[in-house]
Amino acid sequence: MSSVDLTSKIPNNVGLSDDKRLLRALEAWQPNYIGWWKEMGPEGYQEKDVWLRTAISVDADGWAHFDYVKMPDYRWGIFLAEPVAGRTIGYGDARGEAAWQVIPGEHRNTLRRLIVTQGDTEPASVEQQRLLGNTAPSLYDLRNLFQVNVEEGRHLWAMVYLLHSHFGRDGREEAEELLQRRSGNVDKPRILGAFNAPVDNWLDFFMFTMFTDRDGKYQLLALAESGFDPLARTTRFMLTEEAHHMFVGETGVERIVQRSCELMKQDPNEDARAQGGIPLDMVQRYLNLWFALSLDLFGGEISSNAASYFAAGLKGRANEDKFAEHSALDQAYRMMVPKDGKVAEEDVPLRNAMNEVLRDGYVEDCQRGVDRWNKRISEAGMPYRLRLPSKRFYRHIGLYAEMPFDMDGQLLAKPDWDRRRGEWLPTAEDRAYVATLQKPVYTPGQIANWIAKPARGIKGLPFEYEYVRLD
Ligand SMILES: [Fe+2]
Ligand SMILES: [Fe+2]
Repeated sequence: MSSVDLTSKIPNNVGLSDDKRLLRALEAWQPNYIGWWKEMGPEGYQEKDVWLRTAISVDADGWAHFDYVKMPDYRWGIFLAEPVAGRTIGYGDARGEAAWQVIPGEHRNTLRRLIVTQGDTEPASVEQQRLLGNTAPSLYDLRNLFQVNVEEGRHLWAMVYLLHSHFGRDGREEAEELLQRRSGNVDKPRILGAFNAPVDNWLDFFMFTMFTDRDGKYQLLALAESGFDPLARTTRFMLTEEAHHMFVGETGVERIVQRSCELMKQDPNEDARAQGGIPLDMVQRYLNLWFALSLDLFGGEISSNAASYFAAGLKGRANEDKFAEHSALDQAYRMMVPKDGKVAEEDVPLRNAMNEVLRDGYVEDCQRGVDRWNKRISEAGMPYRLRLPSKRFYRHIGLYAEMPFDMDGQLLAKPDWDRRRGEWLPTAEDRAYVATLQKPVYTPGQIANWIAKPARGIKGLPFEYEYVRLD
């Protein structure tokens, strides 16, 4: 067991106190991080007591401590999952090699890029969500927002620790730049598209945590297979926290759907909107948008980078040990490839299709959530069903980028697609309507009209608990 030091300025289980140079470097970065948090973190709530979970160890039971804390005083720590004795790389050309504690020189630049790209998403999402505290549907939801935000902050710490500890001066410079880019900024945008899209209402937020945080889960699962052992260990622990973010999204949409059904039943025309709810077809349009944006995050369907990451043992498949075969050589992945105005099946060498393999796992995981939402709708006796659009719909990266595929993956003529866009994606009118619902409900036990109460509160506490103290 690595021992946990909770008393130092930076709580950690990586023995920081034994490495004075590293400790000094991270302690020098810390005030810049806090400066970033105060500037770009949740607006208007920095001085409030929030009932938050803080990671204090990596024990399966009891890794977290819950209490009121003011967010700038949150104890952002560095925690790596326990090492696996004798761990070897499980796939690719490096299969069977001992996992690396020190980065092989030839992989240094690639690993730095992978870590920076992952790291960049963490503060980006905090920036995207920084105004949502002004409009939460309940104190429970407000608290969950802040929980997600502080943990994304910790995930940034996790990546910055790797940059500082293994990449020397380059790593320190990258760590600074992680605090300088800004979501949605034209001059200094965040690295990935979905992390520059605005998240200015709670429907977007729940879709983001459902679909975009779930992309995070799959990237982390792939990095948890990395031959670079400190990266594998840090991502393994991040996954523990990530589960709650997806819970927030999945149950958030579920509660919206549930409430919409209740309101439909109360209305003579089964019109949720007439009763102040969010119509299910509008939910579908937001779903389509965030699903498509999140699919892009996996990268191109055919990727020589993905092939070389796999070959070199840098990034595996999610849960690599569940696969029967680990070289992925002399095998093909059959995918739909656009050609001459049509799509046709084509076999792609499996290693080049690794992004697609990861994306498939993700789609399956998303489908499970959608099934759960549909169960609520069907229990309410309503015929409407939500669904995931085709993987080809509204893509901006990869084989299908900028091509007019409809929700079913049929290739349309561009003018037809343009004309029907409003059936599939949130319209200006949808956005204007959703904006009218963004009003804070901050009396303990109360909830906005457009969303149902959660089945239970946090950590055994009731929904009525004062999760954020506003005075
Ligand atoms: Fe994260
Ligand atoms: Fe997350």
